[in-house]
Amino acid sequence: MNELAKQLNADIVAGNSMTFDMLSSIGKNLFFPKGILSQSAEAKQKAHKLNATIGIAKEEGKIMYLPSVMDAIDMESIPPEESLTYAPSFGIPALRQAWKEAQYEKNPSLSGKTTSLPVVTCGITHAISIVADVWVDPGDVVIVPDMMWGNYNMILNVRKGAEISKYTLFSDKGGYNIEAFEKKVREEAAKRDKIVVLLNFPQNPTGYTATHEEGRQIADILTRVAQEGTKVIAVTDDAYFGLFFEDDAMKESMFTLMCDRHENLLAIKLDGATKENYVWGLRVGFISYGTRITGDAAKVYEALEKKTAGCVRGNISNCSHLGQTIVLKSMKDPRYQAEKLEKFNTLKSRANRVKDVLKNEKYKDAWDVYPFNSGYFMCIRLKNVAAETLRVHLLDTYGVGLIALGEKDLRVAFSCLDLDDVEVLFDTVLQGVKDLS
Ligand SMILES: Cc1ncc(COP(=O)(O)O)c(C=O)c1O
Repeated sequence: MNELAKQLNADIVAGNSMTFDMLSSIGKNLFFPKGILSQSAEAKQKAHKLNATIGIAKEEGKIMYLPSVMDAIDMESIPPEESLTYAPSFGIPALRQAWKEAQYEKNPSLSGKTTSLPVVTCGITHAISIVADVWVDPGDVVIVPDMMWGNYNMILNVRKGAEISKYTLFSDKGGYNIEAFEKKVREEAAKRDKIVVLLNFPQNPTGYTATHEEGRQIADILTRVAQEGTKVIAVTDDAYFGLFFEDDAMKESMFTLMCDRHENLLAIKLDGATKENYVWGLRVGFISYGTRITGDAAKVYEALEKKTAGCVRGNISNCSHLGQTIVLKSMKDPRYQAEKLEKFNTLKSRANRVKDVLKNEKYKDAWDVYPFNSGYFMCIRLKNVAAETLRVHLLDTYGVGLIALGEKDLRVAFSCLDLDDVEVLFDTVLQGVKDLS
């Protein structure tokens, strides 16, 4: 094992040996290399005469660029130094700091709790993949609900070889199926030393966020299981964070309820600008850590950040500098909060419109509506026709595109619908059902 990895491992063990035990074998071996990166960083500070360390190109002391590239970027606002050069594998420091401050503003219960600085990833998909490398060994279990984002399977099962273990998301009474969740968690905890639980609110595909009471119960269950001796890694996928449209939905991340509960419970927060700030293709996501640490918390978090950034370094080296700079500039812009509120209200009015439209009795023989209170999506459960058959029929006959999930479910991205289109869409789905019945 590399000496740097040994040092990071010792720092983690000194603060919380259980966190160290949770690392995958890749995670235990990870370190942040010194080599070229640290030598160039040193040269950046001290090489005033000539700096020939890093693998980029310069001319007349400035970053080399093609005018046909820079014509597409406002050079006054974002010079080549902030767009074309490499960003650090950790992400640009000012963005990491700004995102952390925003996490605390958006989650007031984090106040007084210590968490890591976020490490930048290439969107949340990449964040999940990095978490899988650092914390999940092939054969480990990852607990998810039966209705989930399909890519979890690709990242965690197909690529990583983890076992995906599912519980039923909704109870017959309508809300989160806390009983099924606890049963599944206990069943897996009885078989293993370590479990990984993936929570996603607002949820894809259902648009559901746990209520305050359900959130408290989920956190309590995981804390109890951790207290009883199982190592619990609770990963919160907060991709759609902030888009909470109803009073009963939790307004803070589950991360806040778990990040300081027990040494045996590690909370990992995945969030990002992609969905929250409507910059899907800029690919800016983050990984942050929170757990109870007895020793020097700063040292443990620094070690976890270095392992995580080392994993990024060995995977895609670093994330788009341009993407990070644009997100940071927008966050610092005085218009930012008002702009976000405006888009929030737009999405909320669409969600409300969907609810109003679906109250109409005319739909009741065709489908049931799954609970939703947040995010980009909602789902219906068809009563008489197969989801895939209807999807193809709607597409071919009416030019309407929806996502079929399993046998009976259709997912509607109301985030893409203008208010006037909502009723038209559901009437077309109803017509499609009638055509096929
Ligand atoms: C629940 C969930 N997590 C993560 C992602 C991926 O987000 P990103 O574009 O940041 O990779 C998605 C995208 O569809 C999602 O629905």
